[in-house]
Amino acid sequence: MTIYTASTTAPVNIATLKYWGKRDKKLNLPTNSSISVTLAQDDLRTLTSVATSESFSEDQLWLNGKLESLESERTQNCLQDLRDLRSKLELSDKNAIPMSKWKLHIVSENNFPTAAGLASSAAGFAALVAAIAKLYELPESASEISKIARKGSGSACRSLFGGYVAWEMGTKADGSDSKAVEVASREHWPEMKAAILVVSDAKKDTPSTSGMQLTVATSDLFQERIQNVVPKRFEQMKQAIVSRDFPLFAELTMRDSNSFHATCLDSYPPIFYMNDTSRQIVKLCHQINAFFNETVVAYTFDAGPNAVLYYLQHNETKLMAFIYQVFGQNQGWELKFSAQDLSAFKDYFAD
Ligand code: DP6
Repeated sequence: MTIYTASTTAPVNIATLKYWGKRDKKLNLPTNSSISVTLAQDDLRTLTSVATSESFSEDQLWLNGKLESLESERTQNCLQDLRDLRSKLELSDKNAIPMSKWKLHIVSENNFPTAAGLASSAAGFAALVAAIAKLYELPESASEISKIARKGSGSACRSLFGGYVAWEMGTKADGSDSKAVEVASREHWPEMKAAILVVSDAKKDTPSTSGMQLTVATSDLFQERIQNVVPKRFEQMKQAIVSRDFPLFAELTMRDSNSFHATCLDSYPPIFYMNDTSRQIVKLCHQINAFFNETVVAYTFDAGPNAVLYYLQHNETKLMAFIYQVFGQNQGWELKFSAQDLSAFKDYFAD
């Protein structure tokens, strides 16, 4: 009995121009294009190993050491698409091993707490799809494979690339042009750094999928965002990345985070992802930039209260001096602060 295996990692990506809204739920097609920065491989990532053998009797998934169900429609869609591509390859190459018909065993591990609300589904689906594509020796490009990851979780398609990534929304009804593309490699702008301030590691109150559906269905502001705001911002942000224009990149990133959270607040009933501490971080970032009379830092918030800060390496010392003073303790490169560590922060804003 032969067992065939493959492993791969996919890092977390953090959107600087947010995906929020679906125009097709089954194919996971977005209402707007988005842009993200993929974190480095050795920072926050999912490691996935897959095995297949004629002797396996069922598909199985172990997630962080626990046996999990593979029954979700999204996962099934991804597995089906990958098996279809493999069977196409087997038809064209008579020597190919017929593994498209065999069951899969999948082992997936995050090197960060899944509960910390740090976009684990993006890295998770990206690693799952990339590992199986590798096992199946699929010749398709990363952009092609990203369309499969997209069906697992929209943001996952962007984790197929490192560096600066755009998810082009596409216009076709079958989703064949809704895919991730590289805007620039990581090496293009090596000065860029990200820090994560973990405000709370509680599970988010409204999951992204249902949250964005509520926004699409009920927010008037959302229509303005997707029609008049994001298309222009998408082009400007790509340009800011290509020309390594940090002040522009930072302003667009902060404005887009604020715009996305404004549409959440404009949903009915409203969705609150940011909390008081998140808002204090926003205020602090603007104060830091004003204090130095320079754009030193940009913040962005996903569907939860935790902040991701972007800054350039040469500003790390002065930014962190400020942050340490306010937050106290540093627990590692990502500056993971727990809620308890924020007492000093509260004093800072006491006036
Ligand atoms: C706020 O990709 O988690 O992080 O496609 O329903 O799985 P589904 O949603 P998901 O939404 C991510 C939303 C976001 C913004 C972003 O990453 O662009």
